[in-house]
Amino acid sequence: MRSVLLIGTGRAAFHLGHAMKRAGLDLVGITGRNAQHVDQRAAELGIPGLKFSDAPSKADIVVIAVSDDAIADVAMNIPIGDAVVIHTSGASDLDKLLPHPHRAVLWPLVSLSPGEPMDLKAIPLVVDANTAFARERVRGIAKALSDHVTELTHAQRELVHASAAMCLNFPLHLLARAQELLSDHAIDPSILMPSFVAMAQKAAAIGASEALTGPARRGDLGTVRHHLDRLTDDPELRAAYARLSSMILRAYGHPDHGYTDV
Ligand SMILES: NC(=O)c1ccc[n+]([C@@H]2O[C@H](COP(=O)([O-])OP(=O)(O)OC[C@H]3O[C@@H](n4cnc5c(N)ncnc54)[C@H](OP(=O)(O)O)[C@@H]3O)[C@@H](O)[C@H]2O)c1
Repeated sequence: MRSVLLIGTGRAAFHLGHAMKRAGLDLVGITGRNAQHVDQRAAELGIPGLKFSDAPSKADIVVIAVSDDAIADVAMNIPIGDAVVIHTSGASDLDKLLPHPHRAVLWPLVSLSPGEPMDLKAIPLVVDANTAFARERVRGIAKALSDHVTELTHAQRELVHASAAMCLNFPLHLLARAQELLSDHAIDPSILMPSFVAMAQKAAAIGASEALTGPARRGDLGTVRHHLDRLTDDPELRAAYARLSSMILRAYGHPDHGYTDV
């Protein structure tokens, strides 16, 4: 079995580390720039916490799970050899791992937040590699972790990454802002949660376009206008509401009466 070293102590390292352990991979240790974080993750995972300077020589496969902007620096500090060096970033090119001869990407297409270790079996893992050797190794790890392994080029990953940001991050930000609005008016913000959870399930069941409801979809311009009138205290949110309403009105064949200019 190929040995794996994990570099990084953040969210991705936490979830990937636990998933690798569960899958029975030979995780030989974890390292990072902050000794305290390394010790904490090592204890949680039940594997050795290593000094960065000693660590990379210890594995056949090195998984760099650090912030996107730090990947290139970390990769540069790993001695060049036969190890397959992998990063976990959807937004980053394989070239960030130069000058290593065998480079690969292992990108979990999911929000990895604090909490219980996540089961990655049902989560899409996107892979890419620059050599057949690296491809075989990264696919081996990915298939041990997930039943949904997909290979995508960097250009394709950028598109998927932008799409994921759009449909995962934006709704959550809007949820947070909507809940703030309710709290500001002494209304329990959790009142929105059952519908929010049901929305994703509905989209999975019947498709996003079919699942979409609301005044803009119906073309109820009077209701859209009333909502805009309630948002005058928050011009930024009001502008977002107007722009998104216009997009929906047009998508469903209604006139938008210039709400994009609000
Ligand atoms: N979280 C997600 O939802 C998610 C999903 C898929 C892929 N990813 C990818 O996973 C990677 C890690 O993301 P994350 O969410 O785990 O981030 P994170 O929780 O913020 O952790 C970042 C890690 O990078 C380390 N780091 C930051 N700057 C560094 C530097 N200059 N040198 C060395 N280490 C440095 C941090 O070290 P310290 O402990 O010292 O701060 C920490 O261990 C990223 O490439 C990200 O795109 C994340």
